[in-house]
Amino acid sequence: LPKQRLLVVANRLPVSAVRRGEDSWALEISVGGLVSALLGVNEFEARWIGWAGVNVPDEIGQRTLTWALAEKRCIPVFLDEEVVHQYYNGYCNNILWPLFHYLGLPQEDRLATTRSFQSQFDAYKKANQMFADVVNEHYQEGDIVWCHDYHLMFLPKCLKEYNSKMKVGWFLHTPFPSSEIHRTLPSRSELLRSVLAADLVGFHTYDYARHFVSACTRILGLEGTPDGVEDQGKLTRVAAFPIGIDSDRFIRALELPQVQDHIKELKERFAGRKVMLGVDRLDMIKGIPQKILAFEKFLEENGDWRDKVVLLQIAVPTRTDVPEYQKLTCQVHEIVGRINGRFGTLTTVPIHHLDRSLDFHALCALYAVTDVALVTSLRDGMNLVSYEFVACQDSKKGVLILSEFAGAAQSLGAGAILVNPWNITEVSASIGYALNMPADEREKRHNHNFMHVTTHTSQEWAETFVSELNDTIVEAQLRI
Ligand code: UDP
Ligand code: G6P
Repeated sequence: LPKQRLLVVANRLPVSAVRRGEDSWALEISVGGLVSALLGVNEFEARWIGWAGVNVPDEIGQRTLTWALAEKRCIPVFLDEEVVHQYYNGYCNNILWPLFHYLGLPQEDRLATTRSFQSQFDAYKKANQMFADVVNEHYQEGDIVWCHDYHLMFLPKCLKEYNSKMKVGWFLHTPFPSSEIHRTLPSRSELLRSVLAADLVGFHTYDYARHFVSACTRILGLEGTPDGVEDQGKLTRVAAFPIGIDSDRFIRALELPQVQDHIKELKERFAGRKVMLGVDRLDMIKGIPQKILAFEKFLEENGDWRDKVVLLQIAVPTRTDVPEYQKLTCQVHEIVGRINGRFGTLTTVPIHHLDRSLDFHALCALYAVTDVALVTSLRDGMNLVSYEFVACQDSKKGVLILSEFAGAAQSLGAGAILVNPWNITEVSASIGYALNMPADEREKRHNHNFMHVTTHTSQEWAETFVSELNDTIVEAQLRI
């Protein structure tokens, strides 16, 4: 059987481009859960459509980048600087992202944001239309078009306007907030209606799906059914499809000689100390300041641990043109500096903070040598870092401290220590509990998580979504 053709449409392509010359490009793997998960999917004849993360105003640049990306089965959507500013930095990451994660609009420039709502929303629609144009150009009959994330809520509608027979799915990688939050968006109805143009709408958890259905019933006055949302006899199917990782890829990587060497180096480097690890994009939703303050409290109250534990925090820079992210960077640097000044010695510091990304093998080695992983998201759609840590821990059986506000808490809750990241006293106590946990309890908890992570893979996630989408369309045809 020929593989099902799939057009994956996401704002961020799996590779981001860096210009090396007039016609030469370097491609780097993009960082983020959406890209990681989709890279683990290979049962389809898939093509990606998205933004390469770079402004390419000239024709030679556009042509050569298109060729370079074609080798990776990627098709670029070229967004100019003004659109990126208003759509990506503005509407997506200054409005939708914080609202969907219950952080509210940025405090300082709230009124300015309110004033620019309309122009940013116009840019958002325009950008979505540009994605739709590229999809339409590459679409072949029978293709499945799978749209991803909050950047592209307008896309299903644009696509169906082009061709009502297109099979369109939309998946959200963030939480969908309570309808009371969604209600505050000036464009609340338009956004919901455009998403509803899709045949299938998917979320990570049942709660997010339920919030979406209530938003449609309360704000649009439509009927919610156990299957989804109905509008004048037309059903949009809504369901939960919890994402996973390609766990084998991590487990296999641990066997590689270069990863083994790296593990050995790290073990020597941190001999005699327990290693605690945080891996996050430097994003407000990750609760990095809260995590570091909890660690400080732990050091404060447990003097005997001060020279026996180290926190490695990988904080990958992200969305650096958005002011809130710039502020967060300064804030985190300040706290880390203060704590290292307070508890460091001439030869050691309690916190190693890295403002950069690591390559896959370095990341695997780090996961493998960690004793306690700390995931303190204030909200998080799923959080794949917690899954990746578990996949790399089959020999060490370390402890996962996990925020109850991450989607992953619903699947790894039985094995992890769940915490409220706002409660620094609780997180600090959990650090103590984790560091002192006896081997048999660690093993029991780890096995629980490991079982989940290795049986709920990204491959299966994608297959389930696509087959549900196919079924939904067959059922819709039977109804007519
Ligand atoms: N990641 C990476 N390099 C790094 C740090 C993180 O590739 O230096 C990856 C990590 O392996 C994970 C993803 O970034 O797959 C983060 O996904 P997650 O779901 O935890 O959070 P998101 O960034 O999507 O909010
Ligand atoms: C989250 C979002 C993704 C996004 C990623 C990285 O995982 O759900 O859609 O790609 O963060 O953010 P960026 O803005 O760099 O694409």
